[in-house]
Amino acid sequence: MSNFEPPQLPLIYVVDDHHAQLQALGEWLRANYRVRLFNSAEDLLNLLDTGAVPDLFLLDVMLPGMSGMDLCSHLKRLGQTRHVPVVFLTAANEPATEVQALAAGGDDFVLRPIRPDVLLARLQLHLKARRSHEQLQRDNDRLGERVRVSNREMWRANRNLEKLVAIGLALGVERDRMALLKTIIQGGRDLSNCEAATLFLLTEENTLRFELRTQTDPLPISELPLYDPKTGEPIHRFVATHVALSGETVVIDDVYTETRFDLSGTKRFSDESGMRAVSMVTVPMSPRDGEVIGVLQFVNATDPETGEVTTFSADLVRTLKAMASQAAVALENLKLVESQKALMDSLIRIIAGAIDAKSPYTGGHNERVPELAFMLAQEATKVQQGPLASFGFASEDEWREFRIGAWLHDCGKVTSPEYVMDKATKLETIYNRVHEIRTRFEVVLRDAHIEALTAVAQGQDEAQAWAQFEAVRAELQDDYAFVAECNLGGEFMAPERVERLKRIAQRTWMRHFDNRLGLSEAELRRYTTEPRPLPALESLLADKPEHIIVRSESQKALDEKFRFQMKVPEHMYNYGEVYNLAIGRGTLTNEERYKVNEHIIQTIMMLEKLPLPKNLRRVPEYAGTHHETLIGTGYPRKLTEKELSIPARIMAIADIFEALTAPDRPYKKTKTLSECVRILWFFKKDRHIDPVLFDLFLESGIYKTYAQRFMLPEQIDEVDIAPYLGSVPVPSPS
Ligand SMILES: [Fe+2]
Ligand SMILES: [Fe+2]
Repeated sequence: MSNFEPPQLPLIYVVDDHHAQLQALGEWLRANYRVRLFNSAEDLLNLLDTGAVPDLFLLDVMLPGMSGMDLCSHLKRLGQTRHVPVVFLTAANEPATEVQALAAGGDDFVLRPIRPDVLLARLQLHLKARRSHEQLQRDNDRLGERVRVSNREMWRANRNLEKLVAIGLALGVERDRMALLKTIIQGGRDLSNCEAATLFLLTEENTLRFELRTQTDPLPISELPLYDPKTGEPIHRFVATHVALSGETVVIDDVYTETRFDLSGTKRFSDESGMRAVSMVTVPMSPRDGEVIGVLQFVNATDPETGEVTTFSADLVRTLKAMASQAAVALENLKLVESQKALMDSLIRIIAGAIDAKSPYTGGHNERVPELAFMLAQEATKVQQGPLASFGFASEDEWREFRIGAWLHDCGKVTSPEYVMDKATKLETIYNRVHEIRTRFEVVLRDAHIEALTAVAQGQDEAQAWAQFEAVRAELQDDYAFVAECNLGGEFMAPERVERLKRIAQRTWMRHFDNRLGLSEAELRRYTTEPRPLPALESLLADKPEHIIVRSESQKALDEKFRFQMKVPEHMYNYGEVYNLAIGRGTLTNEERYKVNEHIIQTIMMLEKLPLPKNLRRVPEYAGTHHETLIGTGYPRKLTEKELSIPARIMAIADIFEALTAPDRPYKKTKTLSECVRILWFFKKDRHIDPVLFDLFLESGIYKTYAQRFMLPEQIDEVDIAPYLGSVPVPSPS
């Protein structure tokens, strides 16, 4: 069927109260126009009210009721007839009437008697002008509409650009992964003004994992494989996997008529959620050409003005693609930062683990101290009153800074010789030299035996000779037992014990062999005296020049910039036998004690040398203060209360308590929980550790939680914490 309709003849309304004239006019006009005749202005207006508008009015000037002039003025005021030409007919050939008619809005003025050809020619002229005017109006309307549309589009484009920039900025600063994903999906949704959005991320197993959705229903747990597990063929039938595989953007205008992809999942979701999916766009997230790290899917674009579901326009798709690229770059950057952090954390843990592995005496210490420190810090952040009220870590970065400080708190121990760290007896160097000394006792005993035998062989009194030997043997046995006991370091070396040691040392034996054979160059260099002729008389125990290990000039003074307050011993080591056996308490010489404590100097120097980023700049402080005390008696800087931060004080407690409770130190009797708490309390009493944190440690039950996680069941006993709580007197400054 053709849509063509022949153009209709122009419609003319004629008003004249003279019936015959009206009819005659009608007759003439009908040959060329459609005509309606009216006897009065009122009749015409009544019809106009129904919305029927002609192409021209032909009015008699003189009408009963409303005059032709008034009618004309009225028509020119009405919206629908304003531009319809009005031609007056009159018999009054007076210029004043003509002027008046034109002033009332009339377009022409035709005098009676009418000459039909003239009238027709004039009407044609006005109708042509009318058609031109209408065409102009239509063109104008169309132009106006076009301007409106393009203004709207520009406004939308501008708005989208602004949103895109805002999303870009937000993506650039976000450091939290989940928050970043939310920014991406919410940003895309805002941009497209769509009803739902889903974010999938590509996994290492070549699957697409549902990561986030704007709908509040739970996400499907399943992942979409990109390749068929049986055939290994790429799966292109699902829109999301196709986009991930191809890197193409897929736009679907109507989900229910789509035939290229299997959208049964979307339709099922539509049915279940009640949100009928219509339009959909799926964009790849590609930080660089060709590589896809995820897929963004948007469903049901809506018209921002009407709220109607519509299709995704080409412009919108372009904007979404731009946003997906930005998001991919942001996600990739975050992934790089995260993997660098993870790598750094692993390296740090490897260092901590290596130190733990180095010595069975401190095994697990570097792993457990951070655990305990973290537990106590978490508890301290909950405190609302007192000195801890304002304590807290503001961000995950600050927690990480503390954790790393805790992991590395003893990293300087990589430089500590094991034999010093683990020195269990006074005579121990790389091995326990008590065996060497015992051998000397054996030699002295043999010599005494030989002396007795020689005396008998030479005819001396046999009984007396053996009696003497027995006396020497008993003395040697007793002396050795004493030396061996001194070696263990369990008892304080009172002056009389040191005296006895020196007496025993003076007993002599005869050396028949060159004591410089079989020595390394380094050892030989320590023998600074002339070799004595053989056989040479030797003391049973001795402090000799070769027992001294010289401290190099460069190690005699500490680097002043670190403000260390430790006294450096003159010698590096002193292996003198009497010197070691005479150690007052414990098993370490002054030199060795310094060597052990030096680990904290090494820790600080090592960490201070690292180019730590801004968010880790307090790591050296957290790691390097756990041996300080509130009263300035700690090391290596003799810091005081006001110089020790809460995290630093937490570290001190964690370090001491772990060492006290450790069940895995060889050759050391394990302590019960109550013993450990009591000893820790002494540290509180002496103001070595923070009393408030100590009380929190007990009252919060952390000591118990820690014990259950890290101590042996047989160590854990009931602890009455009440006597340990409360303030301790602050010593008045002397
Ligand atoms: Fe330490
Ligand atoms: Fe430690």
